[in-house]
Amino acid sequence: MYSPCWKFWTVFCVLLAYNIYVQGNAYDPCLSPTTCGECIRVPNCVWCSHKNMSVQGNSSHPCQLRDLMTYCPIESLVDPIPVEKILVDKPDELIQLRPQRVSVTNLRQGLVHNFSMQFKVVKNYPADLYYLMDVSHSMLDDKNNLVRLAGSLVETMRNITTEFVLGFGSFVDKNVIPFVEKTNASCGPRSFPEIGCSVTYSFSHKLSLSDNVNEFTETVNSTRIVTTFDVPEGGFDALLQAMVCKDQIGWRERSRRLIVFATDAHSHLAGNGRLGGIIKPNDGLCHLDSNNMYAEALRQDYPSLGQISRFAKDNNMNIIFAVTNDVKSSYLEFSKFVPGSSVANLDPNSENIVELVRETYEKISSSVEMIDTSGPEVRVRYYTACTGTLVRENNKCEGLKVGDIVNFTISIEAIECPANVSARTPIIQIKPVGVNEVLTLDLEIVCDCACEKPGGHGFVANATECNSSGDLKCGVCECDSSHSGSHCECRGNENIVELETNCKPDNATKILCSGRGDCFCGKCQCHKRPNSMEEISGTYCECDDFSCDRFDGNLCAGHGSCNCGQCLCYAGWQGSDCNCKTTNETCIPIGGGDVCSGNGVCNCGSCQCSATSNGRYCEDCPTCPSRCDEFTPCVQCKVFQTGPYSADNEAVCNSECTYSIETQETVQVEETSERECSYENEKKCTVKFVYGFDSNGAILVRVQQEPICPPPIPVLAIGFGLAGALIALLLLALLCYRLVTYFYDKREYARFLNERENAKWNTDNNPLYVNPTGTFKNPTYKL
Ligand SMILES: *[C@@H]1O[C@H](CO)[C@@H](O)[C@H](O)[C@H]1NC(C)=O
Ligand SMILES: *[C@@H]1O[C@H](CO)[C@@H](O)[C@H](O)[C@H]1NC(C)=O
Ligand SMILES: *[C@@H]1O[C@H](CO)[C@@H](O)[C@H](O)[C@H]1NC(C)=O
Ligand SMILES: *[C@@H]1O[C@H](CO)[C@@H](O)[C@H](O)[C@H]1NC(C)=O
Ligand SMILES: *[C@@H]1O[C@H](CO)[C@@H](O)[C@H](O)[C@H]1NC(C)=O
Ligand SMILES: *[C@@H]1O[C@H](CO)[C@@H](O)[C@H](O)[C@H]1NC(C)=O
Ligand SMILES: *[C@@H]1O[C@H](CO)[C@@H](O)[C@H](O)[C@H]1NC(C)=O
Ligand SMILES: *[C@@H]1O[C@H](CO)[C@@H](O)[C@H](O)[C@H]1NC(C)=O
Ligand SMILES: *[C@@H]1O[C@H](CO)[C@@H](O)[C@H](O)[C@H]1NC(C)=O
Repeated sequence: MYSPCWKFWTVFCVLLAYNIYVQGNAYDPCLSPTTCGECIRVPNCVWCSHKNMSVQGNSSHPCQLRDLMTYCPIESLVDPIPVEKILVDKPDELIQLRPQRVSVTNLRQGLVHNFSMQFKVVKNYPADLYYLMDVSHSMLDDKNNLVRLAGSLVETMRNITTEFVLGFGSFVDKNVIPFVEKTNASCGPRSFPEIGCSVTYSFSHKLSLSDNVNEFTETVNSTRIVTTFDVPEGGFDALLQAMVCKDQIGWRERSRRLIVFATDAHSHLAGNGRLGGIIKPNDGLCHLDSNNMYAEALRQDYPSLGQISRFAKDNNMNIIFAVTNDVKSSYLEFSKFVPGSSVANLDPNSENIVELVRETYEKISSSVEMIDTSGPEVRVRYYTACTGTLVRENNKCEGLKVGDIVNFTISIEAIECPANVSARTPIIQIKPVGVNEVLTLDLEIVCDCACEKPGGHGFVANATECNSSGDLKCGVCECDSSHSGSHCECRGNENIVELETNCKPDNATKILCSGRGDCFCGKCQCHKRPNSMEEISGTYCECDDFSCDRFDGNLCAGHGSCNCGQCLCYAGWQGSDCNCKTTNETCIPIGGGDVCSGNGVCNCGSCQCSATSNGRYCEDCPTCPSRCDEFTPCVQCKVFQTGPYSADNEAVCNSECTYSIETQETVQVEETSERECSYENEKKCTVKFVYGFDSNGAILVRVQQEPICPPPIPVLAIGFGLAGALIALLLLALLCYRLVTYFYDKREYARFLNERENAKWNTDNNPLYVNPTGTFKNPTYKL
């Protein structure tokens, strides 16, 4: 289970790595650009505008990786390097941002340039506070408390920065039913006697920013509380006017700007105006009349959250939503969309307003967040360690104290070359949120080479290098409409890429003319060889007559001609180097026989023997059938003038029996390759011979001079002997017979004599007589 899996992943990884390797090698991004401008838009590619660099050839491609560009005179090298210049850097007690204006020119597409910027938390940085108060009836106690606490607020803030100014404005809601109960001053049923009756208004700017505390207290004290009908108030109308009416409010040019937006109710947003029949969208402009009242309240809708957010950002406003706990959640939602804003929890009677402003201000002034106005063609990144030591990508620092210096590294990257030329020199504003200071960056993205433009160094109009048919730009010809080619030497307006396709067999091939010729107006001109006997030819210079196979240093072994890398062998020769004879002659043993003795095949003029045979002709083969029968007739006719060949005539014997036949006194097998044969001649004598091969492989037959004949048989002697033996046997048999009969007769006679002496010869006792009348008795004969 485990092992095949492991193998698979190994193979997969190897293949993947190989793929990456191959692709990584095959792709050189600097080879595709054909003009200087295209070249320098590829990071790390540099352009050589030297005139002679535009010739065809491998390493002299005018666009190259910087590290590989070794052949270009330094004055002809086009390799834009970013140039950074600090234009304005005013050190000032009250300026937090340094430098104030920087220019970065010659920044190439895809390149990153770093420069540094400092943000210093200065003491007594100006602070502008505009107090925007909801004066609907529920805020009565808040108003009274603010009157009481104003002095303390100013004192606290002066403790932080001496440059503190304060302004005041109030808001209620649009004076339109249903937002108010009544549009005139007469008191309605829901009025409160203690606050009297007054006309509702949208926004009233009461006091411009000033350092006069008493004026502030008096203004707040004299502000009248107003009754409304619905609970949400029209505070965003007031907020927008307070932000955009710079002159009336008196916002200072360089200061930290705060708006305290104090309310205990929700706010109407864009679209709510429809309820009162107001449909015209808010135009975001300042509309304060001579009485410092918002004049367009009844004609324009409430502003949208987007407008609030935009003006807060543009005007560096830090809005403090000082709201009571019951409506806090909705302002927290708004705050997310408004940069530099925060939400603070206001006591129901604004008792904590001083503490709240101080805390918020300290939070704001102890942090810095960088923002910029870069477009899509540039990416701006911020790196800082804040007050620590670890530098990381970060645009925000918190917890700063007066006197702290934050070093930012600002990294600008040109992402693209914008088609719109004016967008190649963007002016980017980099600034801290909520501080009206800015670092202006004049950027120039370089997308073209100077030598491409008329008048630039390296630009030659109607240049002779371009056959007076085009302009020389950065060392490369740009041909007019009726010419093409690297030197505008070709007629017709086909571009050079199209012409080059005619110089290679297919699109996949990159090398023109097989690397052995020059592509000239779509035709390959093959290179000449130093040796005039050799020639490169073919449409793509793919052929030559010198790179065929060689044998012993001879092209085609001297037995053929070389044609486009292939030997064409003369008759009688074959093989890739023409070193093989086509005949089988050399495979037939000298003196005749089968090709390779029948034990192998003839290959390129020599035998390839089967496994059981050996020798030049595979003649050495102990297990193969013998050739005795083949040689017998020749031995017969050559040595003994007998046999089938000699019977016809001598000519046949001579023509068939070309191998050497020797006679020897005795023959016997002397080598393993030899074989013994024999045959019986007409005299019934055995002829013995041995065949073998000499050192050349020629057949050699050795014949024993004398056939081996059997000795003659003595017939007469055998005949007499046989006859004699027979007679002797006969006589012996006769003699035996005589002896047997003699001894028998002699014994019988002796018995007769014996019996005649003992027997009583009467008629009664005649033993041979049997009574014919007596009982039958078995006759017993006695001898
Ligand atoms: C380019 O040509 C030079 C000789 O001019 C040769 O030494 C070099 O190996 C060639 N490079 C390639 C990548 O073919
Ligand atoms: C720019 O600065 C950052 C942070 O110090 C660093 O990571 C980056 O390599 C720098 N880039 C260049 C081009 O110097
Ligand atoms: C202002 O600062 C002084 C000294 O730092 C301190 O004694 C005083 O209480 C502060 N006043 C307020 C209102 O915070
Ligand atoms: C506020 O105004 C009332 C009269 O409208 C006056 O009596 C009171 O003294 C004023 N308070 C302050 C602190 O000026
Ligand atoms: C900020 O840079 C200045 C010089 O550019 C250096 O003197 C200072 O120590 C740096 N401050 C920090 C916190 O790195
Ligand atoms: C190029 O951009 C500028 C400002 O960014 C603009 O005024 C001009 O119309 C644009 N030109 C073209 C051709 O888009
Ligand atoms: C280029 O120069 C040649 C001769 O030097 C002249 O005949 C031709 O008119 C010129 N063409 C242009 C476009 O100037
Ligand atoms: C090869 O080039 C010809 C002509 O430029 C084009 O028509 C054809 O599609 C190309 N073939 C491949 C496989 O890219
Ligand atoms: C060579 O031998 C092969 C068989 O081994 C035979 O087919 C061919 O005709 C022979 N060629 C000659 C020239 O004898």
